[in-house]
Amino acid sequence: MNTLAVKVVKKTREADDIVSFEFASADGRPLPPFSAGSHIDVHVGQGLVRQYSLCNDPQDTHRYQIAVLKDPRSRGGSVAVHDTIAEGDVVQIGAPRNHFPLVPAGHYLLLAGGIGVTPILCMAERLARTGAAFDMHYCTRAPERTAFVARIAGSSFADRVRFHFDSEEGGRIDLQAVLDAAPPDTHVYVCGPGGFIDFVTAMARARGWPDERVHFEYFGAAPADTSGDRAFEVKIASSGAVYTIPADQPVTLALQRHGIDIMVSCEQGVCGTCVTRVLEGEPEHRDVYLTDEEKAANDQFTPCCSRARSACLVLDL
Ligand code: FES
Repeated sequence: MNTLAVKVVKKTREADDIVSFEFASADGRPLPPFSAGSHIDVHVGQGLVRQYSLCNDPQDTHRYQIAVLKDPRSRGGSVAVHDTIAEGDVVQIGAPRNHFPLVPAGHYLLLAGGIGVTPILCMAERLARTGAAFDMHYCTRAPERTAFVARIAGSSFADRVRFHFDSEEGGRIDLQAVLDAAPPDTHVYVCGPGGFIDFVTAMARARGWPDERVHFEYFGAAPADTSGDRAFEVKIASSGAVYTIPADQPVTLALQRHGIDIMVSCEQGVCGTCVTRVLEGEPEHRDVYLTDEEKAANDQFTPCCSRARSACLVLDL
C-alpha cells in the first residue's frame, strides 16, 4: 500500500486525553486533496496502522489535522500515538479515503459523540463554506473532555452548534426532539462511539427516518454479531491444503497458526491491507473497506474480520 511521508508540525493538547496532530508533507509539496468525512491511515510504528478522520477544512492543501483520544482499553494504537509521536517526527500515512461522504441534501443534521467530532467538524467547515443549511450537536461526557471548543466558538458556524455534556444536570441531548424538529429533507450524519451511533440510528428508525437519510461511521467496522458464527474450511489454492477456521478465530489468525501469514494492520476491516482473492466459495463480508459492488462480486474478502457463508473458501494464496 502506498504511503506518504509527512512531518508532524504541531501536536496540541485539545482536552483531557485528546491531542491533535498537524501534518505537512515532508518535502513541502501540497498534500493530496480530501473531501469532508475522509480518513487517513497513520503508521504508528511496530507494524501498527490506525485510521483517523481528518478534522481540518478540506480546503487546506498544505496540512492534515487529526485528533486522537487516548484509550488505554484499545489495542495500543491510540496510546502509541499519544506517547511516541512528537513534533518534528516524520511519519508514514496513507492518502485520504472517504467512506463517509456528504451527499446533496436540503439540510444537514451533524451529530458528534466525543472524539467522533473529528469528521463532523470537517463536515461543518465544508458546509459552512458552501453556504449549506446545517445544525450540529456535540455530545461529550464533560467540558474538560471536549476537544475544539475554542475553535468552534471562533468559527463562522458557532451559532449552529449546540454542546451537550453528560456531566451537567439535564445536559443530555433530547435526540427525539432534535430529530423531530429537523426539516423534511434533512440528512443525518453521526460519528462517535458505537453506543452513540446505535442510539442515534435506532431513534431515527423509530421516528420514521429512512435509512438512506441516516449516515454513520464507526471507528473500525461496526461490531458484528458473532453469536451465530460457525467453523468453516479454507483451502489454499497453491498447495491444496485445507484448514478449519474455528468459530471464534479470524481467518488470519487460524492460518497463521499453520504457518500461513497474511499481512494485516487494522485487523478490523478498515484498511484493506489483508484483502485476499477468493477463487471459490462465498465470503460473508464484515469490513467497511470494500465497496458494495466489490463485496457483491465475492472474488475478494478481508480475512482479518470477514468469514464465509459457504462451507469452504478457496483462497488465492
Ligand atoms: S487488516 Fe485492515 S482490513 Fe484487514
